[in-house]
Amino acid sequence: MTEGNFDGRLRIAVVIGSVRKPRLADPLAAWLERELTAIDWLDLDMIDLAAVSLPMHELQPGGAAASPVAGRLADADGFVFLTPEYNHSFPAPVKNVIDWHFTEWAYKPVAFVGYGASGGIRAVEQLRTVFPELRATTVRESVLIPMAWEHLDAEGRFLPPPGTAQALHAMMSELGTWARALLSLRLTDLAGRR
Ligand SMILES: Cc1cc2nc3c(=O)[nH]c(=O)nc-3n(C[C@H](O)[C@H](O)[C@H](O)COP(=O)(O)O)c2cc1C
Repeated sequence: MTEGNFDGRLRIAVVIGSVRKPRLADPLAAWLERELTAIDWLDLDMIDLAAVSLPMHELQPGGAAASPVAGRLADADGFVFLTPEYNHSFPAPVKNVIDWHFTEWAYKPVAFVGYGASGGIRAVEQLRTVFPELRATTVRESVLIPMAWEHLDAEGRFLPPPGTAQALHAMMSELGTWARALLSLRLTDLAGRR
């Protein structure tokens, strides 16, 4: 793609950070998918780490060509991490998928939907310290869902508490702004230099 043929659509990958069975991530991811599919400027790719094999003993500095999701991450113009909080941090599979890749994150924006007793705030804030090493930028707005397990209906569907959808759309708007700016950067300033 060049700046000249950019059609205004952006590819956004959602990374589902819990691989537990069962997991609260399922109803939250279903809600997120419904909300994001309705946004007209993006093409969505849901990447479920539970369905991706990234063995830790094969980790390589600078990323690994053998990754089954390298292509999908490389194609993305921005990322949303759906992350729970485990022991006041983010889960190991989230760090693993980050470490398995390198250039795939570069000069792209990353946003977070966190959940946990306190909305996953500690997981989200700790992830903000990781992404600069990958030359990725994190966006200011975030979605934090405290006690998400208390917001399920009888069928286990997530019923977002008031303000959650608004927070999501504010975050996506900011993610889109950064994604457009950084796509332009990748297509012009960085062309041929990476
Ligand atoms: C190993 C582990 C550690 C946890 N630590 C925290 C924690 O530090 N803070 C918190 O708010 N919730 C914590 N929880 C509760 C999770 O937020 C809750 O189980 C949530 O449903 C996990 O998301 P998941 O079901 O999608 O994996 C922890 C859960 C697990 C499995």
